[in-house]
Amino acid sequence: MPGDDIVDFYQSRYDESARLTQTKNQIEFLRTTDVLSRFLPADPARILDVGGGTGLYAEWLAQRGHHVTLIDPVERHIEAVPRLDPGAGSISAEIGDARSLDRPDDSADATLMLGPLYHLPDRSDRVTAWTEARRVCRPGGVVVAAVISRFASLHDMLIRNRLTETGIIDIVAADLTSGQHRNPDRIDGLFTTAYFHHPDEIAGEAEAAGLTIEHIIGVEGMAGFADDLHHQLDDDDVRQFVLGVLRDLEEDKSIIGVSNHILAVARA
Ligand SMILES: C[S@@+](CC[C@H](N)C(=O)[O-])C[C@H]1O[C@@H](n2cnc3c(N)ncnc32)[C@H](O)[C@@H]1O
Repeated sequence: MPGDDIVDFYQSRYDESARLTQTKNQIEFLRTTDVLSRFLPADPARILDVGGGTGLYAEWLAQRGHHVTLIDPVERHIEAVPRLDPGAGSISAEIGDARSLDRPDDSADATLMLGPLYHLPDRSDRVTAWTEARRVCRPGGVVVAAVISRFASLHDMLIRNRLTETGIIDIVAADLTSGQHRNPDRIDGLFTTAYFHHPDEIAGEAEAAGLTIEHIIGVEGMAGFADDLHHQLDDDDVRQFVLGVLRDLEEDKSIIGVSNHILAVARA
C-alpha cells in the first residue's frame, strides 16, 4: 500500500469526493471525460479504474453502460462507492494498490490509472503500476493514465498569490528541479507526497512496461489559469469553443506542460 502520509491525506485531511465537483476543477472533469469518450470502447466494456477515488469517473462510465471495477487503497473512498448511481452499467469497488492488482490477466477491456502514478515517487514503482495495468488489460485494450505536470505547483502558487508564504518557494523549487513534491509541514492547500512528471518522461515509463504510447494529452491547457471559468462555461457557445480549442491543442508539444494534468493513452 502507499505511504502512510498519502493514505492519511485522503482518509482524514482531504475530501476527494468534493474535488471534481468544485467549480475550479470543472474544466478537468469536462476535458478528462471528453478524452475518455474518444479513447474508451463505445460499447459496454469491462473497465478497471485503478486509483478511482470516490468514483466520479466510475459513475460517469457506468452511466454510459460500462461495467467498472474501482480499486483504491483508501477505505473512505471505497465506502463512498455504494452511494453512486451506476445507471445502465455497474460499479464494484475493492481496496488495492496499483503495483499489485488482485485481478486476472486480460480481464479488462480498458484500464484507467487516474491517480496512482503521481503518488508513486519512485520510477520503478510507476513502471510496476504500468506493467500491472497492461497485464490486466486484454491485448489491444487501452490504458489511460494521468500524471501531474512538473510545473503544476508553480502555476497554482502563482495564481493563488502564495509565493510570499513561508516555505512555499522551497517546495515549488524542489518540484521544478526533481519532480519530487513533499509537504512535511502539511501546509494547508498543498498536496501530499507526489511525483510531478516532465511531459517528456511519461512515454519512457509506459514503454518500459511494454506498452505503446499513442497520445500524450494536456488536459486543462490555458483554461486551467482562468479565474471563475465556470461562469464563462455556462454559456453554451463559449463552452463549445473552449472545449474545441483545448481539443485542437491537446497534443501540441509546446504547451502540454501548461496543463496541470496530462493524460497518456497507451495500447496493451
Ligand atoms: C487525486 S485522487 C484521483 C481520484 C480519481 N481517479 C480522479 O481522477 O478524480 C488520487 C487517487 O489515487 C489513489 N492512490 C494513491 N496511491 C495509489 C496506489 N499506490 N494505488 C492505487 N491508488 C492509489 C488515492 O487513494 C486517490 O484516490
